[in-house]
Amino acid sequence: MPVYSISHVENVRVCVVMVGLPARGKSLIAQKIVRYLSWLSIKSKCFNVGSYRREIASTDINAEFFDPKNPEGLKYRQQAVNSAVEDMMKWFLDENGVVGILDATNSTRKRRDEILKLCRENYIEPMFLESWCNDQDLVLQNIADVKTTSPDYLNRDSDFATQDFLKRISYYEQTYETMDSKTDSDLTFIKLVNVNSQIVLNRIESYLESRIVYYVMNLHIKPRSIWLSRHGESNYNLTGQIGGDADLSERGWRYAKKLPELVLKSLGEENQHTNLTVWTSTLNRTQQTASFLPYQKKLQWKALDELDAGECDGMTYEEIEQKFPEDFKARDDNKYEYRYRGGESYRDIVIRLEPIIMELERQENILIITHQAVLRCLYAYFMNVPQEESPWMSIPLHTLIKLEPRAYSTLVSRIKADIPAVSTYKEKGTSQLGEVIGASNKSKSRDLINDSECV
Ligand code: SIN
Repeated sequence: MPVYSISHVENVRVCVVMVGLPARGKSLIAQKIVRYLSWLSIKSKCFNVGSYRREIASTDINAEFFDPKNPEGLKYRQQAVNSAVEDMMKWFLDENGVVGILDATNSTRKRRDEILKLCRENYIEPMFLESWCNDQDLVLQNIADVKTTSPDYLNRDSDFATQDFLKRISYYEQTYETMDSKTDSDLTFIKLVNVNSQIVLNRIESYLESRIVYYVMNLHIKPRSIWLSRHGESNYNLTGQIGGDADLSERGWRYAKKLPELVLKSLGEENQHTNLTVWTSTLNRTQQTASFLPYQKKLQWKALDELDAGECDGMTYEEIEQKFPEDFKARDDNKYEYRYRGGESYRDIVIRLEPIIMELERQENILIITHQAVLRCLYAYFMNVPQEESPWMSIPLHTLIKLEPRAYSTLVSRIKADIPAVSTYKEKGTSQLGEVIGASNKSKSRDLINDSECV
């Protein structure tokens, strides 16, 4: 039974209705909200009207399709929004959806009023989220992202795509009605002005809405990287014990000494002077691993401490299997939910990591040195890894992972230190440690072994 779910507490359903001209980052915001809420086990889904439109109308369209005087375009666009809204309502009702996001321009009051009415008839709270932007540089940056990711411009010449998209925007501008606190005073809405230079909030009522607001307020679009590393090999790792507060082993210290060099390598020649902030847990092994890093700002977070193994703290998996065979099996059966006697589950870690994620969204370049279970949960957030897989991901010792969040994906690269370490990976169904090379189950397919990859 989940220990935490906003929807259970409140029994609310929210429809987030995106509003704004094309190339205002709406899809990016919508996808991030879905990723964040799903990570918190709140059932969320995005319904992108552009994808519905592509299903029913020819993919080979240009800006003229969006001319408000083009009756055929209008017909298809209305059909697309109707289908998306219909599917979303079905999802709310049949699949107990909690947060549905209608990702479309929804740029006229008439359209918004129709959605509002439907939501109210179905006891779903409508929350409008407008991205308003008149910063031309930001718009052009967004167009550059759209050009490379949108199926509308697949195999199209880059200049054509830019000009065509600008024309499409100008058609939308003819009918666009922005939200304002006078005319829309009765509605629940967030209006982001030029990303988050200014934020207008109106009638935010439920806790769930306020979580979404807080998350969106913390987003920024400055390029940055996040580095993740486990601590160096510890003395407990050598003996196969879990938990505790052991010191680094001799090889672990070697990793700590090599880490500054790995970070510089990952930064690349031109960014050698980039200033990083280093976050560690409060445990010895992460602080020792950070001790040779030349950065001024080092913060310790209790929230980054390893999963608390409760009564099993300090035991090996073999000892746990012998002493608590039922617990050992229960954990293998549902590792995400299993909570150690007097300790924590993966779900518990996700809850305590929420403030970390919020802070990470606000920050720029950060290096986090933490522990296997915590790292799995952080990685799952950035890479959208489902709950049933995340506790089984392989994250080896002595490896530096770099995440570069991009508009619609996160780039991952990793550098191995070439310092041997024991494996702390435990396969399902055994108390032995060690990875089966070439294992083909799903979680292993997310194995962090390649030197560089883009997901
Ligand atoms: C689209 O067709 O790409 C989006 C439709 C809309 O939201 O206006």
